[in-house]
Amino acid sequence: MIEVRILRDAAEADAFRIATFPSFRHWLDFDPGWPAPIAVGTRMGGEMSGLALATPCDDGTADLLSVYCVPDRRRRGLAAALLEQLESECRARGLSALKGTYMTGQPATQAFEGLLAHRGFAPPELRMLVVRATLSSIAPAPWIQPRRLPSGYEIVPWVSLSPALRGELATSHSADPWIAPDLVPFDFEEGIDPVTSTALLVKGNVRGWCLNHAVGGVLRYTCAFVHPRLQRLGRVLWLYRAAVERMPGAGFDTGMWTIPVWHCGHANFAREHMAPYAVFFGETRGFRKALA
Ligand SMILES: CC(C)(COP(=O)(O)OP(=O)(O)OC[C@H]1O[C@@H](n2cnc3c(N)ncnc32)[C@H](O)[C@@H]1OP(=O)(O)O)[C@@H](O)C(=O)NCCC(=O)NCCS
Repeated sequence: MIEVRILRDAAEADAFRIATFPSFRHWLDFDPGWPAPIAVGTRMGGEMSGLALATPCDDGTADLLSVYCVPDRRRRGLAAALLEQLESECRARGLSALKGTYMTGQPATQAFEGLLAHRGFAPPELRMLVVRATLSSIAPAPWIQPRRLPSGYEIVPWVSLSPALRGELATSHSADPWIAPDLVPFDFEEGIDPVTSTALLVKGNVRGWCLNHAVGGVLRYTCAFVHPRLQRLGRVLWLYRAAVERMPGAGFDTGMWTIPVWHCGHANFAREHMAPYAVFFGETRGFRKALA
């Protein structure tokens, strides 16, 4: 017998914790200090068989965090039933859409995309390229070979920037905006890796940065940008080189670059010059379904 039900408290959700990623399990604590998740669980013959988990967002939509069905119960319509119930619970809570992102190149990518199509989601859209490389896989890459910085340029730890330099950066951008809105360094400072995150100084002023975070033992290159005048010169590569050089000292063997596809030059560089040295090259895609 198949049972599909909304999970409403931590005790009820306990058996379902293993059915989502470790980083999302805290949602199943139903901590009253946080918005209640939208969790739907299924059992077959009394056994936990699957979970769909979403969270409400401030914009009135819901983010689908994960959907999972135990391997020996797949292709019996359980995940479809989980999403159907999840969508109807979202509607009942007045949420206007169910959306999310996922990474391609995973064992279940085809199944997940099939499931989205089955439930009437719009075709997924490409968002980011994802390059994962180890120090040894990237070592032969021509663009990572050491080079001397031209005069007038300096690379310094981001955390060492003085208030005056930070102020100059903000003023320079306000006077004549040049920073891509999605790569403003001040938005990414929380929890940066202090050893590998650097700023590029040009004649003493900050004109580029590479801010990185430790994610599950991997160094994620979260936000890398240089002044548009320096982009054609490939100056962002100086920052990548500096970070890769510092990785062993900071205890990292593997790096992950996430590159928004709308930064075309950078995305083309990743496809042509990074992918050949990657241990994984994939993309993230976004999906969405309006819940009228
Ligand atoms: C993706 C997943 C949840 C699907 O669960 P499921 O219970 O087998 O899916 P359903 O039986 O409800 O399938 C519903 C529809 O999805 C599509 N689908 C499901 N599995 C598919 C597959 N392997 N290939 C192609 N389409 C598939 C089909 O259209 C299917 O309808 P059909 O069986 O009538 O053709 C399951 O494979 C899984 O748990 N994978 C691992 C976890 C994961 O990676 N989740 C996605 C990211 S969070």
